Amino acid sequence: MPEADVMSDLSHSAPAALTGSGKPLSVTRLRKRYRGGVTAVDEVSMEIAAGEFVTFLGSSGSGKTTTLMMIAGFCEPDSGSIVVGGNDVTRLAPQKRGLGFVFQQYLLFPHMTVWENVAFPLQLRDTPKAELRRRVGETLEMAGLSAMARRRPRELSGGQQQRVALCRALVYRPPVILMDEPLGALDKKLRDQLQTEIKRIQQELGLTVIYVTHDQEEALVLSDRIAVMRDGRIDQFDTPRELFERPRTPFVADFLGAANFLPGHIEEHTADHLLVRLDTGGLLKARAQQAASVAKAPVRAAVQPGRLALRPAGEGFCTGTVETVTYVGTLVRVTVRPEGAVATGVVRLELPAGRAPVPGERVGLGAEPADVSVFADPEEGR
Ligand SMILES: Nc1ncnc2c1ncn2[C@@H]1O[C@H](COP(=O)(O)OP(=O)(O)OP(=O)(O)O)[C@@H](O)[C@H]1O
Ligand SMILES: [Mg+2]
Repeated sequence: MPEADVMSDLSHSAPAALTGSGKPLSVTRLRKRYRGGVTAVDEVSMEIAAGEFVTFLGSSGSGKTTTLMMIAGFCEPDSGSIVVGGNDVTRLAPQKRGLGFVFQQYLLFPHMTVWENVAFPLQLRDTPKAELRRRVGETLEMAGLSAMARRRPRELSGGQQQRVALCRALVYRPPVILMDEPLGALDKKLRDQLQTEIKRIQQELGLTVIYVTHDQEEALVLSDRIAVMRDGRIDQFDTPRELFERPRTPFVADFLGAANFLPGHIEEHTADHLLVRLDTGGLLKARAQQAASVAKAPVRAAVQPGRLALRPAGEGFCTGTVETVTYVGTLVRVTVRPEGAVATGVVRLELPAGRAPVPGERVGLGAEPADVSVFADPEEGR
């Protein structure tokens, strides 16, 4: 993008993005129902700031791709609107929206070299030769592909091909870039490496990125904010930290942190805490939260396995017997079968490996009130 365009972009960007070329994007009440009756996307609304990295995270069929395709312009919404950098693009053709895409199938041109593949979007835009050469060179350099410029896609590894696809989307500096599971086909090591790469490029250029994945770890590594999707709707759109610490639905608590859900009912609630009487008999203290309105009704208290601590038997919110102990690198995963009047499932913990108990040991379990979320049970509405 010539210098002048960058400057005009900045005129309607948030101050935080002063060095970047990203644009804000907003989606309002987007809806899509496919023929055959599935409502794939249902009233999705969100505001994305210039330079922000946002991820749609959700299980298969939750509407991530459909939402992205509507933003891209490849799928027509039944209702709702999409605004990019202040312009309503809802009815514009994909190529007129100024967005870049990277998809899971990287779709490189097999007969073209790496250089030619990356130059292609600039050729389409009649970029002057000298500038084209400079841009392609810089972009390949940034992705560590300069040495492979003359190779054809079949002479590259999967990860290298994926990087070429990324370069092709980045080369014309789109203010917003959309990526649908771009690393889905790669092994874990390459995925980790490319995640770092994508994040670095995004930050360096100040791009606005909308990314789709069903891998929660990937979402946590990359994103400023994550929209957790379920059945075509957004359950919660928040920073990774907020999603962990203040999940608004049991689905979010489970999807992000594989939370333990402990059944019980609220015995006391004050301005700063809730006391939950667990079905197993013990008392669990939780931070004050909305579920306070469900006093006396059954609730589920959710705690992430990594936020539970071992206590001596008889202390904490319950006592139980260690069933399994599994070493996972520096962590150890432990399951504990709680004792009590009512049988409930095992509780899962993650502890530093040095603090592992042994199977058969009786232990108490404790949690900080700030780490306990309380939900009505069964979950009512959304
Ligand atoms: N072209 C189509 N025609 C009819 N139904 C469709 C079509 N594309 C998607 N769907 C349905 O819409 C819903 C949302 O699909 P979508 O592809 O958006 O999900 P997704 O979250 O991207 O899933 P995945 O993680 O599997 O890619 C699903 O129930 C799917 O079966
Ligand atoms: Mg999809």
